[in-house]
Amino acid sequence: MSPGQSNMLPRPFSVYRADTLSGEISLLIEIKGKGTALLAETTPGVSLKLLGPLGRGFPDLPPRSLLVAGGAGIAPLAFLAASTAAPRTLLYCARSSEFLVCPDTDLDLPGLSVMEATDDGSRGVKGTAADLLSNRIEKAGAVFACGPRPMLAAVKEICSRAKIETWFSLEERMACGIGACVGCAVATTGGYRRVCRDGPVFPAEEVIFDG
Ligand SMILES: Cc1cc2nc3c(=O)[nH]c(=O)nc-3n(C[C@H](O)[C@H](O)[C@H](O)COP(=O)(O)OP(=O)(O)OC[C@H]3O[C@@H](n4cnc5c(N)ncnc54)[C@H](O)[C@@H]3O)c2cc1C
Ligand code: FES
Repeated sequence: MSPGQSNMLPRPFSVYRADTLSGEISLLIEIKGKGTALLAETTPGVSLKLLGPLGRGFPDLPPRSLLVAGGAGIAPLAFLAASTAAPRTLLYCARSSEFLVCPDTDLDLPGLSVMEATDDGSRGVKGTAADLLSNRIEKAGAVFACGPRPMLAAVKEICSRAKIETWFSLEERMACGIGACVGCAVATTGGYRRVCRDGPVFPAEEVIFDG
């Protein structure tokens, strides 16, 4: 998505909520730099260019799924959490409370348990996503995660030790969004893959974090 009048490259965002009746979608955007700051200043009535939906999303949630969100990684996981009423648990983690940007009311979904953790203990449990996950991994049906790469690397290690099916939504910088520029390529066990076209969702076992 990009501000209509600017010459900036578009920025990638997840669908946070979708209303199938009205056709409206919502985004949850954390301000990081110039593009997100410009989007945050947008007022009603301003036109934005939007291309999508693009890429491959998460598979359906099996019973007892654990959803692990780091910071703005909550956006695709909140959307996923709303796709079923089956019992599932969201582990929602960030550096501190100000980075837990998702309103509580948006996570008040039937069958969803929410556990929060912050590195500094300013909200929820004091600790990391890995701390929360380690205590719950044994009973998980599958794990779905989105967040900073160090968090995903820790999640991968825990899940692979416990042999639990795990899926990641990767956040890379993008330019074209349609597979043409290769600017979003990441190392996987199958070679370099484009996050915009081949992902952003990949099986965790395929993602190489030190490559
Ligand atoms: C598939 C996908 C879905 C995403 N969904 C969301 C979402 O729902 N909500 C949301 O807030 N953000 C989301 N992001 C991240 C978002 O695209 C970036 O934060 C945004 O592009 C930053 O643009 P900017 O111009 O504000 O910052 P820039 O000026 O471009 O960068 C500011 C800082 O952010 C870092 N940065 C820039 N782009 C990324 C990126 N893609 N991933 C990690 N760090 C980055 C830069 O290294 C720099 O430190 C998603 C990214 C991807 C690939
Ligand atoms: S952003 Fe151009 S190939 Fe992915």
